[in-house]
Amino acid sequence: MYIKNIFIRDFRNLLNVQAEFNENYNIFYGKNAQGKTNILESIYYLLNAKSHRENSFINLINYDKNSSVIKGKVLKDNISSEIEIAIDRNGKKTIKINNNNSSNSELYEQNYAVMFSPDDLRLIKDGPEKRRKFLDTTLCKIDFNYKKVLSQYDKLLRHRNSILKNYSNYNNTIEVFDQQLYKCGAFIIKKRLKHLYEIEKTANKIHLTMSEEYENLKILYQSSIIDDLSQADDISEIYKLKLEKNFTEDIKKNFTSIGPHTDDINIFINNKYSKKFSSQGQQKTACIALKLSEIEIYKNYTDQYPVVLLDDVLSELDSIRQEKLLKLLKGMQVMLTDTNDNAKNYLDKQFYKLFEVEKGLIKTYIQ
Ligand SMILES: Nc1ncnc2c1ncn2[C@@H]1O[C@H](COP(=O)(O)OP(=O)(O)OP(=O)(O)O)[C@@H](O)[C@H]1O
Ligand SMILES: [Mg+2]
Repeated sequence: MYIKNIFIRDFRNLLNVQAEFNENYNIFYGKNAQGKTNILESIYYLLNAKSHRENSFINLINYDKNSSVIKGKVLKDNISSEIEIAIDRNGKKTIKINNNNSSNSELYEQNYAVMFSPDDLRLIKDGPEKRRKFLDTTLCKIDFNYKKVLSQYDKLLRHRNSILKNYSNYNNTIEVFDQQLYKCGAFIIKKRLKHLYEIEKTANKIHLTMSEEYENLKILYQSSIIDDLSQADDISEIYKLKLEKNFTEDIKKNFTSIGPHTDDINIFINNKYSKKFSSQGQQKTACIALKLSEIEIYKNYTDQYPVVLLDDVLSELDSIRQEKLLKLLKGMQVMLTDTNDNAKNYLDKQFYKLFEVEKGLIKTYIQ
């Protein structure tokens, strides 16, 4: 899929922006604090009805304005649709697709965009929560049942933890919870294992290409329930026993110490634990490979590439890895930001469009 054009009014520092995009690469460049990330955010917002970095949409409205509108034409399978999102300071959000009222979930389910920001380049360095989110975000998007079970699990977990806090021997409702909890939890772990297998296959190929065939990527799921994959079939039974075993400890701690909410993924480059032994550039490359595998997974699922948004990612890589990354994204619509327009040097003229961003406005250079 790709976005043909956009119209932005009063979104952050973008008061009145209109742009026609290239089907391939779109390079937004300019000095710091001019509005480059805001443009990518507005595109992401148009496709997902949510921001990649801000939970409250009120903060997306320009400081001095009461409302904001983003409109754009999106093409999928050569069918075009017009999306319009309006938000205001009173907390009202209106979404229209082809002039018909729509909803957050409808928009989210129909469109695919992958955003890379410098934050994502810390996927390996940061804590496990970020890596769980990485797995869950893609899985939720391609498997609505997973999304449902994950939110069910989350509710059960919060409820169980509140029971643990006030636990007395007369209160035996915990067993009822545990039954549901390990069923949902086992489902989540199994799905994640399968998903990770797909991610590893794709990410490793990408990683080898970006590292000029020198670096091999391996990803292992680290579970609090099972020790290795051979136990995956018996996961529910093991889970149940572990919950019982940990029960006294959980009461002391007031929370549930095992389950998918504590799991992690471990990443290895050439068989060395990346978090400890890889260089910054190696870690960043591995993060990019992981994120790019998300693109392939969407492609396999929808038969179309998502829109790829690269915020400030190129500047973090050496020139060989920059070029490899851009070439790997051939055939997709890519929106990228940088403080310079060097990215164009790696691309053929007809495949890119340059946008200079200054004080919330953009100047277009037709090639
Ligand atoms: N709600 C808002 N209303 C008006 N301006 C805002 C709002 N939110 C953020 N801004 C401003 O928008 C400006 C541009 O931000 P943006 O993050 O897009 O910069 P950038 O061009 O990506 O810069 P950098 O190269 O440093 O990443 C910033 O000065 C920021 O303070
Ligand atoms: Mg920025």
